Amino acid sequence: MKAIAVTDQAAGTAGMKLTERPEPQAAINDVVVQVHASGFVPTELMWPSTWTDRVDRDRTPSIPGHELAGVVTALGYGTTGLSVGQRVFGLADWYRDGTLAEYLAMEARNLAPLPGDVDFTVGASLPISGLTAWQGLFQHGRLQAGQSVLAHGAAGAVGSMVTQLAREAGAYVIGTGRAADRQKALDFGANEFVDLDNDALEDVGNVDLVFDVIGGNIQKRSAGLIRAGGTLVTVVGPPDARPANGLAVDFVVESDRAQLTEIVQRVRDGRLRTNISNISTLDDAVSAFNPTKRRSGKTIIRVRQ
Ligand SMILES: NC(=O)c1ccc[n+]([C@@H]2O[C@H](COP(=O)([O-])OP(=O)(O)OC[C@H]3O[C@@H](n4cnc5c(N)ncnc54)[C@H](OP(=O)(O)O)[C@@H]3O)[C@@H](O)[C@H]2O)c1
Repeated sequence: MKAIAVTDQAAGTAGMKLTERPEPQAAINDVVVQVHASGFVPTELMWPSTWTDRVDRDRTPSIPGHELAGVVTALGYGTTGLSVGQRVFGLADWYRDGTLAEYLAMEARNLAPLPGDVDFTVGASLPISGLTAWQGLFQHGRLQAGQSVLAHGAAGAVGSMVTQLAREAGAYVIGTGRAADRQKALDFGANEFVDLDNDALEDVGNVDLVFDVIGGNIQKRSAGLIRAGGTLVTVVGPPDARPANGLAVDFVVESDRAQLTEIVQRVRDGRLRTNISNISTLDDAVSAFNPTKRRSGKTIIRVRQ
């Protein structure tokens, strides 16, 4: 099968190569999925799990990508809950070969059914950004209606989901980002926007929840805005800052079939819009992941036409 493989961590996305690899076999509780569309987060090339297995052995050449939508073609021993021919989407294991390939084997529990009226390209764009936003807002951030959320990177993949889900939950959302992202963040539903390069972040006043996708100094300054009892949720590693009288939580997104189902239902009935900036093919994936100009939103690889 065709796949994109990486062998050289220092090379980043420039080191990705289109290769031929053997088709995977389904292990216990696995399914094999014929990938129709696939997503990729550039920072995954910095994660140890891209390069080693769970006991730290080199697993290169590895296949990156963890989001997918496709069709189940085989079931492993003991696998329940899905069937051959079923349309699915989900989040693949961090430590196994991933979704930038024509087929992958993954645990069935990390997939949810993809309704027939949702395109594979849309399905592949939802798992990481949708689940990260959902888990950060509702599980870790315990968001309540009427609260305020500072949604960093609100025109980006995670931030646009955070903005929409928080608004739907009855929160007041202050989106942030680059100057060029103002209108996009407002279109996703932010009540107001802070241009982090030119506006004073401190002018937004106090908030109940900061959803951080940036880290560093922006995270530190944001922690100071959290009112008593509030939460800093970050997805870029252990927090460097904590609210004076509140919680700081960092987490790595997990797959969850019920949450995937909630997310895709919102897409179907128009409550949630995905944030795709570019669609490419497996043959052109390496150049798609090495764009010559800035893109805001996800690049999705349409593996099978
Ligand atoms: N822990 C987890 O489970 C988890 C899950 C998903 C994502 N993540 C992480 O979350 C981060 C965001 O992911 P994403 O997919 O949402 O990325 P993305 O689509 O690139 O969105 C990030 C947005 O924030 C903006 N931004 C970044 N730094 C900024 C700054 N200093 N000032 C103003 N705007 C800034 C970016 O603009 P520019 O493009 O111009 O920089 C972009 O619009 C990544 O580091 C990713 O690895 C973690």
